[in-house]
Amino acid sequence: QEVSRQVSRAAVVTIMGHVDHGKTSLLDYIRRAKVATSEAGGITQHIGAYKVRSDKGEITFIDTPGHAAFTAMRARGAKVTDIVILVVAADDGVMPQTVEAIQHARAAGAPLVVAVNKIDRPDADPDRVKQELANHDVITEEWGGDTQFVNVSAKTGEGIDDLIEAILLQAEVMEIKVSAEGPARGVVIESRLDKGRGPVATVLMQSGTLRKGDILLSGVETGRVRAMLTETGQEIMEAGPSTPVEILGLSGAPNAGDEAVVVPDERRAREVAGHRQA
Ligand code: GTP
Ligand code: NA
Ligand code: MG
Repeated sequence: QEVSRQVSRAAVVTIMGHVDHGKTSLLDYIRRAKVATSEAGGITQHIGAYKVRSDKGEITFIDTPGHAAFTAMRARGAKVTDIVILVVAADDGVMPQTVEAIQHARAAGAPLVVAVNKIDRPDADPDRVKQELANHDVITEEWGGDTQFVNVSAKTGEGIDDLIEAILLQAEVMEIKVSAEGPARGVVIESRLDKGRGPVATVLMQSGTLRKGDILLSGVETGRVRAMLTETGQEIMEAGPSTPVEILGLSGAPNAGDEAVVVPDERRAREVAGHRQA
């Protein structure tokens, strides 16, 4: 029996936490600070996921925080997240949706890295957060547990580099690998109908390599990949595992959580899509 060739890929990270604890602010800060725009004056567009590159490694952030998206994807059987960043506001502590996020992460088998946010606030109490999370069996390494806690501020940027290092360290421990062989496949993160460009699907690639011109099948939609764009609007010819790409050329907008897979022939793709529709 042949052993398939394994390659490492970037960790895929989702941010969860209670309402107003700073999920969006944190994602926005990281995107602004760490995703270089390719062209002069280029604007980083919002495509639902982005990749951060540092000299120590790469991380893919899914930029659609919220338990709803996570639940919808899991309901479709999509396993997209390797690591969950649990955001807890240091001035508010553990709240109902914090506990819900812990449960989601456990159900998905994804380890947590805790971002204790709003550390800039005068009433911030990170020790209280540690204590309250310990009550839910999320125990800081400082107390002999296995969870990294990082104090951060999405407002000042304090601790953001430490958070990225903590994620990379967690990813290293997990040895995230994927088969280099087989047809390219990914998961739809979000999709929409664009007035000018037609259906646009953001797909997080999971294995294999997707190339411009490939025939893609996703849910009941098919089509030849007409163009692939990164989060900085740069057109690319191929996308490997853990790369998020905007894909143009599908017949319609697939659902978040749908698998997107390369198929060898267009007629067969339409047949399968037709069966699914019926
Ligand atoms: P929902 O998506 O509504 O659940 O909220 P969220 O978790 O995305 O929080 P959001 O980023 O919207 O932040 C909520 C409020 O907290 C906003 O007014 C932010 O400006 C503020 N905020 C977020 N992070 C920080 C921080 O580190 N320090 C301070 N002082 N304020 C913050
Ligand atoms: Na908010
Ligand atoms: Mg938000």
